[in-house]
Amino acid sequence: MARKPASLFVCQNCQAQFPKWTGRCEQCGEWNSLEEETRAATPGRTTAATRKGGGLKTTRLDGKATPPARLDTNMAELNRVLGSGLVPGSVVLVGGDPGIGKSTLMLQMTCALAKAQHNVLYVSGEEAIDQIRLRARRLELDKDPKALDQLELAASINVNDITATLEDKRAFQVVVIDSIQTMWLEGVASAPGSVSQVRSCAFELIRLAKTLGFVLILIGHVTKEGALAGPRVLEHMVDAVLYFEGDRGHQFRILRAAKNRFGATDEIGVFAMTDTGLREVPNPSALFLAERHGNVAGSAVFAGLEGTRPILLEVQVLLSAKSSDGAARRAVLGWDSSRLNMVLAVLEARCGLKLGSMDVHLNVTGGLKVTEPAADLAVAAALISAATGQPTAPDEAYFGEIGLSGEIRQVSQTGIRLKEIAKLGFRQAVIPRHVGTANARPKAPRSLTIAETGHLSELVRRFSPAGKD
Ligand code: TYD
Ligand code: MG
Repeated sequence: MARKPASLFVCQNCQAQFPKWTGRCEQCGEWNSLEEETRAATPGRTTAATRKGGGLKTTRLDGKATPPARLDTNMAELNRVLGSGLVPGSVVLVGGDPGIGKSTLMLQMTCALAKAQHNVLYVSGEEAIDQIRLRARRLELDKDPKALDQLELAASINVNDITATLEDKRAFQVVVIDSIQTMWLEGVASAPGSVSQVRSCAFELIRLAKTLGFVLILIGHVTKEGALAGPRVLEHMVDAVLYFEGDRGHQFRILRAAKNRFGATDEIGVFAMTDTGLREVPNPSALFLAERHGNVAGSAVFAGLEGTRPILLEVQVLLSAKSSDGAARRAVLGWDSSRLNMVLAVLEARCGLKLGSMDVHLNVTGGLKVTEPAADLAVAAALISAATGQPTAPDEAYFGEIGLSGEIRQVSQTGIRLKEIAKLGFRQAVIPRHVGTANARPKAPRSLTIAETGHLSELVRRFSPAGKD
């Protein structure tokens, strides 16, 4: 007897499921977020319920293990984030804000793969073939006959059609779906972009990728609230999640791995969006510092770390007298505002530098978001410099974490940071004092003078006219 399909109300914000509609999700409190979804009982499920499972073949831990083969994307920045290339049969989710450059990046990658004689299929549910061609022309990708022979395009949102094509042809090594939110699977009674459509479409495509062994790349838009019927609901189903970030007003784009079953998750790839598409940036520090004016008060260079890669950035601070009667403004771009408040509080309590009544604007140039506490020292230097009107030395870079009593704490990877500082021609590094005898401080490059700093007050002294050495 055919069972009536069960009706279910799913919160599009937190994916909680309810048997009845309510105006407000009881789990996350979001209003009007419940949508009706019909779950037809899948044939797989009914038979599985009645069939007795077969025995599992188990094995020992010490067997032979070969590392997975990789497809080289021919884009070094992309390879770095993926963990040296794409693994056949794996599923990669590329998420990011609309308009950030996901389609551009993936089209450039597919062409690079095709050029290396890999068969690639690019399915767009968002753009017509003409639009993709125009984009390719703009990126000058349509010139290489070698790439053109290996790359197939299709415009479709129908997952049944896509899977039928893939099963028929069985020739593709890489398949890009742009985007998963536009895809639609017959038999799932809800609109494209809803949680159950996104999930069912992805499931169908992933199942096929695993059976046929092609690399599946799903593009997903992140919606404004970050709560999405997209990347988040898929994160657990895929092998790797890459987020493409950046500020649309800025040229720089960062590709970051949020999850990677085949590589490290803290690597980043840096790109610059130009008139002719995304250009890889092998040496980001030089670019991030390119527009720096050394003799302005309120700026300090931070030697940060993204994954295994050191990156030098400029921290800029502007202080102004409080503009309104209420609390002072704290406008922070690229850093954590509560961390800024902490540094301000420590400067006031431990060093007597009163900035509480000032509006503080802080900006990390290049549009990069810094999450490391190691940036504390550079932020403090920029603040002190702005407050005293004394610029930091143009050849000086900073890193170190600040504790609540004003002590400067050591951070990881001192050696790598120092090397990058020296590589970019800086001559001085202001860093935490080395304590402990267990391991010596990594040797600094010879061109570099090291100023070890134990307490924030020592940093303040560097900016007083008498304290400058
Ligand atoms: P796109 O790849 O379409 O973004 P997404 O797929 O993430 O929505 O990129 C769109 C933006 O990139 C668009 O605003 C124009 C810009 N762009 C360039 O600046 N240069 C280029 O060569 C291309 C193709 C796009
Ligand atoms: Mg797009």
